[in-house]
Amino acid sequence: MHHSALLNVMIAAARKAARSLKRDFGEVENLQVSLKGPANFVSAADRRAEETLYAELSKARPGYGFLGEEGGIREGDDKTHRWIVDPLDGTTNFLHGIPQFAISIGLEREGAIVAGLVYNPITEELFIAEKGKGAFLNDRRIRVAGRKNLSEAVLACGLAHLGHGDHPTVKRETGAMLGQVAGLRRFGAAALDLAFVAAGRFDGYWERSLSPWDLAAGIILVREAGGFVSDCDGGEAMLDKGEVAAGNETIRKEIVRVLKSA
Ligand code: IPD
Ligand code: CA
Ligand code: CA
Repeated sequence: MHHSALLNVMIAAARKAARSLKRDFGEVENLQVSLKGPANFVSAADRRAEETLYAELSKARPGYGFLGEEGGIREGDDKTHRWIVDPLDGTTNFLHGIPQFAISIGLEREGAIVAGLVYNPITEELFIAEKGKGAFLNDRRIRVAGRKNLSEAVLACGLAHLGHGDHPTVKRETGAMLGQVAGLRRFGAAALDLAFVAAGRFDGYWERSLSPWDLAAGIILVREAGGFVSDCDGGEAMLDKGEVAAGNETIRKEIVRVLKSA
């Protein structure tokens, strides 16, 4: 398949960072049995991956700004473009040898997300989208699922855990959703949750207490797959509020309705 120059840059950077993540993931499986566990090793792995992404992306597009989970904000001369990057989304999975994690790269132009990539180095599933050009999984066009009723829908969500998230809200909202859906999943990598919505695997997804790098790439994947994305109140402040509700327009609205009622 022919990709734009921009997507080629993003894909090349992701594949390079993926090689080191894949090696490190193999090592985690060995460290798993040690007493100290692989925690320190993993935080080095995602810093390494972010440096690779930064080096590759800024070589190809000098001047673009860069917001990464590990390194924070790096200003560029070009104030209209900014990469938003999570070098390893799904760290807890990675740390436990669970192959559900991804590199996530979004590109913002004048405040709007115009391209996104989510890549799982283990399954080698590559999700890409560019504004106005559709969303693709390994070069096959993807679409969000068409189901209109929550009663038939399988949704993904996030859960709070020790030291993270608003526990009472999560309990209320997941409690309210449980009785209304065909299935609720917690896979543990927000970027992949959104990519799976884009691919029609999940009918919808919502989560709070997220960061821009969890969301940027996935938002354009869902939109370019014909889906809709909002914050949990139905507004547009996903990145500012760090929350998301996604699906086809009917399911997204249903999610927001249930969250409001919770
Ligand atoms: C996390 C994952 C997870 C979500 C957390 C995120 P990380 O990102 O996306 O699914 O529930 O809130 O922080 O820390 O693995 O990059
Ligand atoms: Ca993340
Ligand atoms: Ca991360």
